[in-house]
Amino acid sequence: MKFFIDTANLDEIREAYDLGVLDGVTTNPSLMAKEGITGEENILKHYKDICDIVDDNVSAEVIATDYANMIVEGERLAAIDDKIVVKIPMIKDGVKAIKYLTGKGIRTNCTLIFSAGQALLAAKAGASYVSPFIGRLDDVSTDGLELIEQIVHIFQTYGYGTEVLAASIRHTMHLIKCAEIGADVATCPLKVITGLLNHPLTDIGLEKFLADYAKGNK
Ligand code: E4P
Repeated sequence: MKFFIDTANLDEIREAYDLGVLDGVTTNPSLMAKEGITGEENILKHYKDICDIVDDNVSAEVIATDYANMIVEGERLAAIDDKIVVKIPMIKDGVKAIKYLTGKGIRTNCTLIFSAGQALLAAKAGASYVSPFIGRLDDVSTDGLELIEQIVHIFQTYGYGTEVLAASIRHTMHLIKCAEIGADVATCPLKVITGLLNHPLTDIGLEKFLADYAKGNK
């Protein structure tokens, strides 16, 4: 399973990368705004800065919502670095843009997926990744993990090469369940990735080992 970090914060990206378990980064316009990154030039530079930290898989989202501008923007984003994956929203023109960009050899991540039908459309258009938002589904009393399971099953049945990228992950149990279900990727805030480290018995056990060592090595 690949781990992506869902942030535009360079320090957090560095921290996750330094842990040695990071396979990529997802951003979105809200995450960029949270870091105060505005204006096209600054946004493109920020994507480049992210690419310089990680090995691959940096999702950069288009702002345009019509086909013509989406493909221009998608090609501009892809030209930043070979590590860029162009993030396209699940709308009609988005599906067409995915088809076009895939034909040009540009990887795409279809975002804002909330149903299996949307995921199927994106896969048929050739998306490299689909991003079902599980936390946002849970927020409206719909089981986000069930959607991941459904999409994984459909893609496996037909052998689609599109990877299921579980997004909008809120806590470690989401991540662990996604791993059980067979999601190809999980994109999470840093606290979810580092949250996997925690177990009180580990802390108690380590404290005891060190205390016993100290007793015998005075
Ligand atoms: C995915 O790529 C999105 O950036 C993200 O996971 C959305 O998460 P949120 O629902 O916490 O905003």
